[in-house]
Amino acid sequence: MSRVWKIGVAGLGTVGGGLLQFLAERPGFAPAGGQAVVTAVSARSRTRPRPVDISGLAWFDDPVALAVSPDIDIFVELIGGSDGPAKAAVEAALKAGKPVVTANKALIAEHGAALAVLAEAADVPLLFEAAVMGGTPAVKMLREAMVGDDVAGVAGILNGTCNFILSEMEQRGASFADVLAEAQRMGYAEADPTMDIGGFDAAHKVTIMAALAFGCAPNFAAAEIEGIDQVDLLDIRLARDLGYRIRLIASADRTPDGVAVRVHPSLVAQGHPLAETRGALNALFIEGTRIGRIFIQGPGAGAGPTAAAAADIADVMTGARRPVFQAPAVGLKPFVAVAPTRRVGKAYLRMLVKDQAGVIAAVSETLAECGVSIDSFMQKPVEDAGGVPIVLTTHAIAESVLTDAINRIEKLPAVLERPRLLRIARI
Ligand code: HSE
Repeated sequence: MSRVWKIGVAGLGTVGGGLLQFLAERPGFAPAGGQAVVTAVSARSRTRPRPVDISGLAWFDDPVALAVSPDIDIFVELIGGSDGPAKAAVEAALKAGKPVVTANKALIAEHGAALAVLAEAADVPLLFEAAVMGGTPAVKMLREAMVGDDVAGVAGILNGTCNFILSEMEQRGASFADVLAEAQRMGYAEADPTMDIGGFDAAHKVTIMAALAFGCAPNFAAAEIEGIDQVDLLDIRLARDLGYRIRLIASADRTPDGVAVRVHPSLVAQGHPLAETRGALNALFIEGTRIGRIFIQGPGAGAGPTAAAAADIADVMTGARRPVFQAPAVGLKPFVAVAPTRRVGKAYLRMLVKDQAGVIAAVSETLAECGVSIDSFMQKPVEDAGGVPIVLTTHAIAESVLTDAINRIEKLPAVLERPRLLRIARI
């Protein structure tokens, strides 16, 4: 007789509701040949309309009580948030020896190392395919398929909301504020969009990717994060004239100095697959030392996380077992962050200056004094810009040198505001 796996689901939003519906319709989907049946749930509201009738399921007001219930075999956490009930429930489930499936990138990025220790001590899986790129497989790719290689780095677009906003700004010539307001009206962006537009969501995801890629403990605190809220339509237009598009690029690189995890609005050359990734799509390059470059692209939200969570449930049922990250939790390498002084890359600098003689000479003299080598230079009068924009791109340069140059340029009498720095993506 095939085994019945009793699933407890905490959090019944889009992903949780979708999972209930999927398992109600196809309980025997799993390759193990058993049955996955949701028997118990926990959510904020018991009465909110849902795609399936939950009246026949055991109800728990407290997700921690659900997590440790002897009547469930697998705990699925879809509450969200790095702390609070999600963390308490996942910890409780692992300590009680329950396999855990979660979509919670904040929880894994911020507490993944400690949770991995709990999971491996209890000898139960802790799976989170739905946490990164929705239903587009990214976690298993690094955790399983790439373990035969040494990954040098990953880079991509991991937040659909930001990519949607940047694509719309570019296509419609609309400001960040206007596109965000419209995205919120249409339900694409959250009422509080800080996690997305501030770059934190992408940083959580790339922190997880770094841990999986390099076998180190996730270290969200070491991520360097800049969101898209300061991206000006002027820069999108000027970048386009230089042959680039602006994308929120999340990257993790293994360097001789340590690991660099970064999220920045960055210039990507037109025609590059990341520049051509539009709307709410996600995309990721993985650079394997032996395999070479792999590129995946797909939806990062929508119904995909439901499928990813179901795939994790299937893994629990089949008995598939791997370390939570790439190496056993007790032996995870510490995550040594690259010091800011060691960061090197090409950059875009945009200045707004008074239209008067000698400005360009003063700017280029300052750059020369600082040792910044210019790759291209453009002055382009733009209506309503409040000054004349001058834009330049640099050859690869230490960011500390660039910051010094920006500080000095800002003080020049003809320069109207602090120069805007955007990185040029290395990928
Ligand atoms: N809010 C995320 C995004 C999806 O916009 O990509 C969930 O991680």
